Amino acid sequence: MSSAIYPGSFDPLTNGHLSIIHNGLVAFDRITIAVLTNPKKQALFTVNERLEMLQEIFKDEPRIEVESFDGLLVDYARTKNIRVILRGLRAVADFEYELQMANMNRHLDNQLETVFIMAQDAYFYVSSNIVKEAAILGGDVSRLVPPVVATRLRAKLKTASSR
Ligand code: PNS
Repeated sequence: MSSAIYPGSFDPLTNGHLSIIHNGLVAFDRITIAVLTNPKKQALFTVNERLEMLQEIFKDEPRIEVESFDGLLVDYARTKNIRVILRGLRAVADFEYELQMANMNRHLDNQLETVFIMAQDAYFYVSSNIVKEAAILGGDVSRLVPPVVATRLRAKLKTASSR
């Protein structure tokens, strides 16, 4: 059975991520979505909130597993006994960052391979950061994220603005 780890911050998951996961399921039997717990970036959603959203979105998809990890991705992949990292590529802007990560991961463990899947063109310019920025400023992002995420975003921003 072929498996891949799809790691990321997912703060929050967007339809771009969703398209990578759906296309990833064409290539792999199982995908483990792995949320990084100690990112350098300040997050909008807690790791638990992100896990809850992911679990809700994929509750009817037995080929998807949702977990969190910390430390090195290569160590986590080793503990899972999975040899493939799945990453999405959007516009050219992603390329250098992804190349750096893939090379570092290969340097740390040359048995681990990174596989890239192109995001659907409709979501080429959609990122978690840009979605968050628009939502925080009152923009409607409901066509760019799954309904669960849109609802949670609205609730989160309402709570933040009433503080
Ligand atoms: O969604 P993101 O923020 O682009 O995902 C980045 C992620 C989580 C894949 C990357 O930061 C990562 O793997 N972090 C774990 C630490 C690690 O292994 N670093 C060395 C390789 S870059």
